[in-house]
Amino acid sequence: MSNWQELEQQYLMNTVERIPITLVRGQGVRVWDEDGREYLDFVGGWAVNSLGHCPPVVIKAVEEQLNTLIQASNQFYTIPQVRLAELLVQNSCLDKVFFCNSGAEANDGAVKLARRYGKLNLNGAYEIVTTMGSFHGRTLAMVAATGQSKFQQPYVPLPNGFVNVEYNSVESIKAATTNQTCAVMLEPVQGEGGVNLPDDSYLATVREWCDRMGILLILDEIQTGLGRTGTLFAYQQLGVEPDIMTLAKGLASGIPIGAILAKDRASVFTPGEHGSTFGGNPLACAAGYATLKFILDQNIAGNVMSVGHYLITGLESLGQKFQFITDIRGRGLLVALEFSSDIAQAVVMACLDRGLLVNRLKTNALRFMPPLIIGNEEVDEALAILNAALSSITN
Ligand SMILES: Cc1ncc(COP(=O)(O)O)c(C=O)c1O
Repeated sequence: MSNWQELEQQYLMNTVERIPITLVRGQGVRVWDEDGREYLDFVGGWAVNSLGHCPPVVIKAVEEQLNTLIQASNQFYTIPQVRLAELLVQNSCLDKVFFCNSGAEANDGAVKLARRYGKLNLNGAYEIVTTMGSFHGRTLAMVAATGQSKFQQPYVPLPNGFVNVEYNSVESIKAATTNQTCAVMLEPVQGEGGVNLPDDSYLATVREWCDRMGILLILDEIQTGLGRTGTLFAYQQLGVEPDIMTLAKGLASGIPIGAILAKDRASVFTPGEHGSTFGGNPLACAAGYATLKFILDQNIAGNVMSVGHYLITGLESLGQKFQFITDIRGRGLLVALEFSSDIAQAVVMACLDRGLLVNRLKTNALRFMPPLIIGNEEVDEALAILNAALSSITN
């Protein structure tokens, strides 16, 4: 174990089971550890490094902004914030933006916005319906929203006002809706919870139900947004428009940022009702603008669609060869590979030994969320390593 890893145990809270390498540098789709070993990165900073590591367009924008204005109080107008909001609105179905610093904070704010809407328009309704297996972040309220007991149990009692119902069941959403309900909050594809894809009609039917009841639909596109699933936003493939949408992860290529977007009718905050010191900070917004502009100008979502298909096809070939592969699922470059037994950690380590970083999604499943700029060659390289790693597990 290197000194950094010993020091980590001495000085940092023990909140994550780390993989035993210390990353010191990244470029494009590759990272290097402190011993100079190179890895092909199919974790991508947990679906953040969409343009790869240290993308030149983002470096340029951040360098310019660093030399111009890093932070200003939100009492004042700042230009990068307005430019990024304009670009988001021009390219989505939403009308207004609020910037914050992370995904959990964006979702927390989205829930506040929906509660505000409920107070003003729904006789004070405040409850949010979410689904089992979802993941919405780590603040106390988002732990309550996240329908997974392993995240909730250590912290009970949780804030009230959240109802977790069965996933992919419109009937359970209907059954949970009362006159206290102000919104339904969903991920278009459940990411952290297992790369779980709903039935084709699920989102559209939930949308119809929300319209019928006059309640809001919040889509958490923190993991699925910004090209990850093959369109700029996942809702575009599902035939629905959310009233509120949240973004974070890939929005600024790794500079922390989060965003709440809302349709005009749901954009009900008034001055002082919500805020953030760093939210909308010029540096993060300059990085966000450069990232989003690149995604749009280079048709990165189109690349994701084709490379994503290529990846799934390659995984299906591995599925023919290794009988213990029981499922391959995903959208775009958010893909899971499931096994019949709990070998995921062993596969992660076997890939690591061979120079590939992959994420253990569950004890029996891996998740791939590489940079969105990868090509078929990198997929071939990853598949060859995975093939060798899986062979080593069976032998
Ligand atoms: C769908 C979704 N929502 C919210 C979050 C929380 O984001 P953050 O870790 O930036 O708070 C995540 C993180 O994985 C996520 O995948």
